[in-house]
Amino acid sequence: MNKITAAITAVGGYVPDYVLTNQELEKLVDTTNDWILTRTGISERRILKGEGKGTSDLCVPVALEICKKRGISPEEIDLLIVATVTPDMTFPATANVVTDKIGAKNAFGFDISAACSGFLYALDTGARFIESGRYQKVMIIGADKMSSIIDYTDRTTCIIFGDGAGGVLLEPNTEGYGIIDSILKSDGHGREYLHMKAGGSVKPATLETVNAREHYVYQEGKMVFKYAVSNMAEAARDVMQRNKLTADDIAWLVPHQANKRIIASTSQYIEVPEEKVMMNIHRYGNTTAGTIPLCLWDYEKKLKKGDNIMMAAFGGGFTWGANYIRWAYDGDQYGK
Ligand SMILES: CC(C)(COP(=O)(O)OP(=O)(O)OC[C@H]1O[C@@H](n2cnc3c(N)ncnc32)[C@H](O)[C@@H]1OP(=O)(O)O)[C@@H](O)C(=O)NCCC(=O)NCCS
Repeated sequence: MNKITAAITAVGGYVPDYVLTNQELEKLVDTTNDWILTRTGISERRILKGEGKGTSDLCVPVALEICKKRGISPEEIDLLIVATVTPDMTFPATANVVTDKIGAKNAFGFDISAACSGFLYALDTGARFIESGRYQKVMIIGADKMSSIIDYTDRTTCIIFGDGAGGVLLEPNTEGYGIIDSILKSDGHGREYLHMKAGGSVKPATLETVNAREHYVYQEGKMVFKYAVSNMAEAARDVMQRNKLTADDIAWLVPHQANKRIIASTSQYIEVPEEKVMMNIHRYGNTTAGTIPLCLWDYEKKLKKGDNIMMAAFGGGFTWGANYIRWAYDGDQYGK
């Protein structure tokens, strides 16, 4: 029998309705539309509003869209992995909340915390379950309600992040389509430059931590930028080299959407031209684990069976990596 690979068979996405524009941010902090656009490429981002709404509420429409497209019931899902750094609660896992909300009664689920690389980590993990031959339907969702951990008085971070989610279904394939290879890396020394100071076991929430605004993203943007540029590009190059792929062989680069300048330097490094680079940062900002599947969602109709797709990400941890996918279906088979 041919080797089993984990093919992506459907994509889903969801962004909340509320649009937070650069113009609105100009009223909140000392910034300008021009600065944000030229330094990051972001025009607007989406924010999940409403009491009692969390990351699971971003995941539910994604999961249901995927089930609808594939014509399956949530009860057919074997496993749900949610990549997020903004879980509904510290525990249980958001995946458990989502399986309950969608009625995925036969699925087990867990979360992966790898910040902006979370979707790539989760995708690669999910692929192993399919390749084992024991599981038939594994759903992977990258989702973050970043607005829950962003300080809207800090102009260096509030301009970047937004809320959103995207996901895919993985199913067994014996024709060589699906997740072919990946390089995933982490380096914990990078936590110094990008983290949330309080709310974990080292520094549980107190009145003091709240007053000191320590439950928000802390980022040294310049350092993160520097590491992101080199690591994301090198991971993509290494995956290409070991699979003997040239830039001409790549149909699409799907980069994590953190900053359009990081995206540009990654694509230039591996010599993939702009027209083959998926980009939606201008509309959604950085949705952390959501960016890569949201790109797939936006571009799904353009994807063709057999396309070589290179995904690359860098994020808090530090974490980074690149995944090589051979696309399994013509994207226009699903209307959106
Ligand atoms: C955050 C980021 C956009 C800042 O851009 P930058 O070009 O590095 O800007 P700097 O931090 O060097 O700041 C330059 C100046 O702009 C100012 N500035 C920062 N944010 C600003 C804003 N929103 N509006 C106006 N000015 C701003 C700074 O205070 C600084 O002023 P100074 O020179 O007087 O000190 C950029 O570093 C970045 O994208 N980093 C990576 C972020 C990322 O990818 N994070 C997610 C994990 S993948």
